[in-house]
Amino acid sequence: MKRTYFLFVGALVLHFTATSSASIIAANSQNNTVDLNALLAFKAAIFDPQRIIPTNWSTSTSVCNWIGITCNARHHRVAAIDLSYMGIAGTIPPQLGNLSFLVRLNVTKNSFHGHLPTELSRVRQLKYISLEGNAFEGELPSWLGECSKLQVLSLSDNKFSGHIPKGIWNLTTLTQIYLDWTDLTGKLPTWLYFEQILVYVSSHQLIII
Ligand SMILES: *[C@@H]1O[C@H](CO)[C@@H](O)[C@H](O)[C@H]1NC(C)=O
Ligand SMILES: *[C@@H]1O[C@H](CO)[C@@H](O)[C@H](O)[C@H]1NC(C)=O
Ligand SMILES: *[C@@H]1O[C@H](CO)[C@@H](O)[C@H](O)[C@H]1NC(C)=O
Ligand SMILES: *[C@@H]1O[C@H](CO)[C@@H](O)[C@H](O)[C@H]1NC(C)=O
Ligand SMILES: *[C@@H]1O[C@H](CO)[C@@H](O)[C@H](O)[C@H]1NC(C)=O
Repeated sequence: MKRTYFLFVGALVLHFTATSSASIIAANSQNNTVDLNALLAFKAAIFDPQRIIPTNWSTSTSVCNWIGITCNARHHRVAAIDLSYMGIAGTIPPQLGNLSFLVRLNVTKNSFHGHLPTELSRVRQLKYISLEGNAFEGELPSWLGECSKLQVLSLSDNKFSGHIPKGIWNLTTLTQIYLDWTDLTGKLPTWLYFEQILVYVSSHQLIII
């Protein structure tokens, strides 16, 4: 019975895919231009002494083939950026906020600096963010508390300072948060201890209330 059901649904999906593929491709190509422009702005903001990104991120091939980029299978939109341990420097440009399908942003252990652009708040699909081991600075933006799907937030070993925005603790999806080796301070709500959330902080950093 179960098997029949799945086969039926499968046939429906196939039918739908076949009949609507032309219009999906048309919509996708415009959306892909948005992703392409966002990544070209990122490329321009990256300094790569080994010249891997300047040569690999070539417009002669789809962004989905670029090193460190993963697209989702369904929409062929940029779903993950993983540029960890690439020995690169630079900033996060505001255009990254146009990557509306981005789920993972990982630039662990590089030499990125500067503030996080407000525009990133438009990326509501973000689940995993790791900026660990860079030189990002400034206060943590309060919009992080609006990334309602956020599960892992790793900011360790950066120059972030100021108070941790209270809204972050409203994120019920959060499972891991790393704030150690930064100059962030703030209050850690007691209920965190009753939830299964891993919180990494340096001992001097936070006041427990
Ligand atoms: C971009 O994609 C979204 C969601 O997939 C769709 O609703 C929208 O119409 C697309 N826009 C363009 C310009 O293709
Ligand atoms: C870029 O790197 C990816 C992953 O290593 C590789 O598959 C692709 O062929 C490279 N593209 C170019 C243009 O060098
Ligand atoms: C992308 O982002 C930039 C800066 O946030 C903006 O100026 C631009 O209009 C956006 N849209 C597209 C389609 O590139
Ligand atoms: C980021 O990349 C590093 C190195 O590949 C990995 O260990 C880590 O789990 C990744 N973190 C996230 C949040 O994707
Ligand atoms: C967080 O949740 C508390 C209690 O539910 C609420 O009063 C507060 O307005 C929320 N803060 C933000 C920034 O969403």
